[in-house]
Amino acid sequence: MTAMHDQFDTLARMYEDMFRLPWRRHLEKHSVLSALGSFGDRAVLDVGCGTGVYTREVRRRGAARVTGYDVSEGMVARARLIERGEPLGIEYSTEPPDPATDCYDLALGVYVLPYAEDYRSLVNVCAAAGRVLRPGGLFVTLPVNPDYDGRRDYYARYGFRLWDAEPRADASRVTLELAFGPYHEKITARHWSRTTLERALAEASFTDVTWLDFQVAPQGVQEHGREFWAPYLCCPHASLITCRKK
Ligand SMILES: C[S@@+](CC[C@H](N)C(=O)[O-])C[C@H]1O[C@@H](n2cnc3c(N)ncnc32)[C@H](O)[C@@H]1O
Repeated sequence: MTAMHDQFDTLARMYEDMFRLPWRRHLEKHSVLSALGSFGDRAVLDVGCGTGVYTREVRRRGAARVTGYDVSEGMVARARLIERGEPLGIEYSTEPPDPATDCYDLALGVYVLPYAEDYRSLVNVCAAAGRVLRPGGLFVTLPVNPDYDGRRDYYARYGFRLWDAEPRADASRVTLELAFGPYHEKITARHWSRTTLERALAEASFTDVTWLDFQVAPQGVQEHGREFWAPYLCCPHASLITCRKK
């Protein structure tokens, strides 16, 4: 059987282009970077870095050392290719960092929790950050919003559709259909309840779990108007969680 993350091996280009969508550029990125705070002198780990869109952003914003970790060979190959063309000193790996030799101040994991197929994998992906963060280190992560709007067209104006492929329960399948530019792809993600996400984070040695609201950057409001953002802000498809290593 194919693992959930194998579906990403051939989707590198689409994930890069997706970053141009207003929802990612003006809302998600703005909110994630605000949640992470300042980067000066910090070592940052990007778990499930994909092609490294956030990894590069964090490095350009002044992080002292940045590592991208992703299980997908295809995603990491693309990230390394970009690094060769525009060297930023980022290391990419398909292996999680080793706590015996590595330590980080900040970690992010954007849309990686939704690809854990069972509870143990959910804990493990959180622990990939938890094991190497220093005590008090911040982890910012975005699972599927446990209360997302399951009506098929609710998020269509943002370039995607999302619906329950089976009744909503822990690890139940959620279909994400990405339809923008030349792309039309279906991806299978997993629903995790609020309680289970918090339990998994606690088991991966995190505390102070906080569920933040998304915010739109002023440029996003200027370009698209408040009306455009209202449905997303009212019921986002993702949740924005911060927590701290014990
Ligand atoms: C939806 S993509 C998001 C990529 C990137 N964070 C972004 O925001 O563009 C999810 C990524 O998580 C990776 N992934 C899934 N499970 C993982 C795991 N257990 N450990 C590390 N990476 C994982 C996938 O290979 C894929 O590249």
